[in-house]
Amino acid sequence: MHIQSKFPPRLWALLLPFILIGTMDAETATRRHIDTDVEHNSKMMIEEGRHIFRYDTFGDEVYWGDTLHLHDAIKGEALGGVGPGVSPGVALDVGLKVDVQALPKDLLKALKRGEVDLEDPATTVELLRLNSVVGVQGFFDDAGLKSVGITCALCHAQVDDSFAPGIGSRLDGWANRDLNVGAIVALAPNLQPVADRLGVDVETVRAVLNSWGPGKYDAELNQDGKALRPDGGSAATLIPPAFGLAGVNLHTWNGWGSVTYWNAYVANTQMRGQGTFFDPRLNDPEKYPLSVASGDWNIRHSPDLVTSKLPALHFYQLAIAAPEPPEGSFDPVAAARGEQLFNTKAACAGCHVPPLYTEPGWAMHTAQEIGVDDFQALRSPDERYRTPPLKGLWTHTDGGFYHDGRFGTLDEVIQHYNGLLDLELNDQEINDLIQFLLSL
Ligand code: HEC
Ligand code: HEC
Repeated sequence: MHIQSKFPPRLWALLLPFILIGTMDAETATRRHIDTDVEHNSKMMIEEGRHIFRYDTFGDEVYWGDTLHLHDAIKGEALGGVGPGVSPGVALDVGLKVDVQALPKDLLKALKRGEVDLEDPATTVELLRLNSVVGVQGFFDDAGLKSVGITCALCHAQVDDSFAPGIGSRLDGWANRDLNVGAIVALAPNLQPVADRLGVDVETVRAVLNSWGPGKYDAELNQDGKALRPDGGSAATLIPPAFGLAGVNLHTWNGWGSVTYWNAYVANTQMRGQGTFFDPRLNDPEKYPLSVASGDWNIRHSPDLVTSKLPALHFYQLAIAAPEPPEGSFDPVAAARGEQLFNTKAACAGCHVPPLYTEPGWAMHTAQEIGVDDFQALRSPDERYRTPPLKGLWTHTDGGFYHDGRFGTLDEVIQHYNGLLDLELNDQEINDLIQFLLSL
């Protein structure tokens, strides 16, 4: 009323459109500002996350190099290390991969002409200096290779073999089922710290490491000390992919937690990076005696070289979609029939819920429900098996299926369910299901 007395109604009518346009513009501008911010942030997170995934050791060279002296085994006696050294030939044999993008043109030419000595550990050291060995970071001083650390890409990246087997462009997130982690660690000249921790002698440590085989690693051994299954087999599990994880709630074969939880677990307790990790579930002297003894359930480093990297690392992994299967790698007509079966008669979709093919929310299974033994389940906090997502399954058929690769082929997997759940699937139906699984 007071205003109206100053401004006649007609003047208001004239001003109103301008006032409204003014507010709308401000709103649109703010929205645009937020959108630009989000785009900028996501770009930064992807770039940072990719860099961390590929190259960040979280300070773990203090362990792999400075403590276990793995770099001395790589160099070999001729370069001031110990033993015969690790030639590129040996490195490729144990499943290490070389990033072709990191190699200079003249080196690529020399490699093509067969002029590079692939039997000389000095070549491996040069490949490390070029930062081309996937998942392994060399640290150098004037005297040469002085330490070595590992990154996430060691186990969770492949290359496309575009240059030669084991040499190509990086495929981040792909499980490296060629990689013999145990054989690599067993090369370390000083395994005494590992032996001390496990309360066994060095020979036993070497035997355990050599029992893992390609594509496998035991991420719980240094918490519970269980190196062998009750049947005498190795307790190591298959390396899963780190792609196609967006929307998936529980991670690892036994659903230890979220991606970010598990990344902190691995970076601190397995890679031995210098960070912060806290999980009271591991402060259980019955189940995790080694974790309690070593204090792994409550790790604090200052400075903390892990925690600030978790957001971008998480973001990056969620951005890696499961790769589409190559054309011609499955029969689409059979796969379409297989999809029908998957959702109906074969009852797979009850647990592997499309389109993520895992269980939305929190649901895991007892060993009994899926017809396997409970050894690996009992090593985890919830004592269950998680329903693994199935997209990109075609990229990790080497090493078999289920947490320990107990089923060598998809046929064996489906035969297992066929018996367990009385599905009465005939041979053609089984083949249709296989084609569907290969199409995911
Ligand atoms: C030495 C090999 C190795 C290294 C290095 C490694 N991982 Fe893993 N990763 C594994 C194995 C083995 C498992 C399965 C563990 C289990 O279920 O007990 C796993 C599980 C995972 C999973 C769960 C996948 C799923 O299906 O839910 C993610 C995500 C992951 N790792 C990401 C990472 C990241 C990020 C890093 C670096 C911080 C890393 N890993 C370092 C071997 C490795
Ligand atoms: C009761 C829930 C349940 C049902 C029903 C089920 N699965 Fe599974 N599936 C699981 C669990 C849990 C695992 C993981 C087992 C492990 O880690 O040892 C698994 C593992 C798998 C794997 C191995 C994945 C890998 O990365 O190694 C495949 C393939 C698979 N299931 C396919 C199927 C098919 C096909 C059907 C239907 C015939 C089916 N599943 C029915 C729960 C289920």
